[in-house]
Amino acid sequence: MVEVKRLEKEFRETKALDSVSLRFDEGQIHGLIGRNGSGKTVLLKLLCGLMAPTRGEVWINGEPYRPDRLRESMGILIEAPGFLDARSGLTNLLYLAAIRGKIGREQVRETMRSVGLDPDNRKPVRKYSMGMRQRLGIAQAIMEDPDILLLDEPTNGLDRQGVEELRTLLLGLRARGKIIVLASHSREDINLLCDVVTELESGRIVRSGKM
Ligand SMILES: Nc1ncnc2c1ncn2[C@@H]1O[C@H](COP(=O)(O)OP(=O)(O)OP(=O)(O)O)[C@@H](O)[C@H]1O
Ligand SMILES: [Mg+2]
Repeated sequence: MVEVKRLEKEFRETKALDSVSLRFDEGQIHGLIGRNGSGKTVLLKLLCGLMAPTRGEVWINGEPYRPDRLRESMGILIEAPGFLDARSGLTNLLYLAAIRGKIGREQVRETMRSVGLDPDNRKPVRKYSMGMRQRLGIAQAIMEDPDILLLDEPTNGLDRQGVEELRTLLLGLRARGKIIVLASHSREDINLLCDVVTELESGRIVRSGKM
């Protein structure tokens, strides 16, 4: 279980999150909705430690979260992930997989196929279309079979088939007990996928509950 307790994030001129308390349970897809600038991405970044909160805490499985330990198994797709543009998709994922050494080449190749990318395509990522980049980002997030998956507008740039495939994939992961947090502007994705939805407005929760 992931819990955030009275999370606050202040920037010089903005209070991006204001006393946000939430819990995210296993086997559920938790939707984050709200207008541009309402705090969805900041919340995801605090959840994974890409940003430090001004106040408040993130707890995972009953312990305060320490992002530096790399122990928690978390898959992240937030904004455009950084890839080495001159290298192929496969090479990029192999480099990333080497950081933890948790999975091997065949699992990386298999993940690429599962998101509709050809692992033998030698095209450098610089020549990828927007949707291909997005698929590579999704592959990067799921390849180590994380317990917690944080996705920021994952269907952005995907074609119809890509959207369908991603939905099927997420429902499969939910069925396997993963914790999935999904920020999205797609009402359809939210309606079809989410068990619980939280709406943010100017960094505050204005609504949170079962769909
Ligand atoms: N690094 C930063 N420095 C200063 N302000 C920031 C930073 N990151 C986010 N903010 C501010 O925090 C607020 C929330 O931004 P956030 O990116 O979380 O919005 P969002 O809900 O994800 O919006 P969108 O739907 O456009 O993706 C905004 O006012 C934004 O300008
Ligand atoms: Mg955002």
